[in-house]
Amino acid sequence: MKYVNSSLFLFSALWMLLPTSIIAVLPGTWPAAGNPPPANANYTSLIDRSKIRNAPLNQATQGTPNCPATDTYCYWTCTLCTRNDTDIIRCPKSLDWGLTLDDVLDYLDTQNVKVTFFVIGANVYQNPDILQRAFKAGHQIGVHTWSHTALTSQSTEVVIAELKYTIDAIKAAVNVTPKYMRPPFGDYDDRIRDISTQLGLKPTIWDLDTNDWMSADDPTFRLSWITGNFNEWVSDPTLKSTGHISLEHDLYNQTAAQIPLVVPILLKANYSIKTVHDCVGDPSAYV
Ligand SMILES: *[C@@H]1O[C@H](CO)[C@@H](O)[C@H](O)[C@H]1NC(C)=O
Ligand SMILES: *[C@@H]1O[C@H](CO)[C@@H](O)[C@H](O)[C@H]1NC(C)=O
Ligand SMILES: *[C@@H]1O[C@H](CO)[C@@H](O)[C@H](O)[C@H]1NC(C)=O
Ligand SMILES: *[C@@H]1O[C@H](CO)[C@@H](O)[C@H](O)[C@H]1NC(C)=O
Repeated sequence: MKYVNSSLFLFSALWMLLPTSIIAVLPGTWPAAGNPPPANANYTSLIDRSKIRNAPLNQATQGTPNCPATDTYCYWTCTLCTRNDTDIIRCPKSLDWGLTLDDVLDYLDTQNVKVTFFVIGANVYQNPDILQRAFKAGHQIGVHTWSHTALTSQSTEVVIAELKYTIDAIKAAVNVTPKYMRPPFGDYDDRIRDISTQLGLKPTIWDLDTNDWMSADDPTFRLSWITGNFNEWVSDPTLKSTGHISLEHDLYNQTAAQIPLVVPILLKANYSIKTVHDCVGDPSAYV
């Protein structure tokens, strides 16, 4: 499992597809976009450090991470290790499907489909109006960090700031406090789990990956593989016993254009498309 060695995750079409929106940024002082935010003592003081498992920082912030010989701290990027007491991995119920992606709001409205958006705090700061629209439409809003950095490479103080600034930006934009987070690149271990838990966030990974993120870098990637994946998954008998959470992006118009093709595949196979909180039986996505 390799890091995606590019900045393509930094921006999402939730923001790009509406480039003409009138930008009124959130009021107040917020960290700069594009970099991990500075540690904030007010945020750090919220956390009991004695309850954070002391996983070492991953020194390789780009490219292949330094994977330890023994996976003491359940480091997903290296071993796909998950912990079932904290992590949300799939929808438990057969025929439930949690689509997690960004934007294509108009299309989703026409289908009355609700999905989960994990949002970048700096984008919320710069385009709160777009978040307000997604929220009002009934989509779930979760935390995807402030700067889309690989969290295991950052100090505990900076990880706290990455998450808490994003929580506060979402609160400032749509007046709810989110309960779900997705680690960028799926880069998380026990230290990240413990910080997230103390900030009231459930780490949410996925069990099926469209690999659509490859389309930006890999000239051999065929967009038809995305619908190909979904067609295979819905007809695979070994995937019938539980529901699923799939990872998808719409950073670029070309992968966004696949969303209207994917939704009918799921509906035709009798899957109910749900937000993540709904499919795991949590009545609310927010505190
Ligand atoms: C911490 O909180 C205090 C009191 O509310 C405030 O004056 C200060 O600016 C805050 N510091 C940061 C870095 O936000
Ligand atoms: C979590 O995993 C452990 C070990 O695999 C298993 O014994 C336990 O039943 C699981 N708990 C839940 C809630 O799935
Ligand atoms: C997506 O399409 C719109 C309109 O067709 C265009 O203005 C925009 O630049 C495109 N964005 C990307 C990331 O290709
Ligand atoms: C979906 O459900 C309908 C009604 O229960 C059933 O007739 C149909 O065969 C199902 N389709 C699939 C692909 O399972």
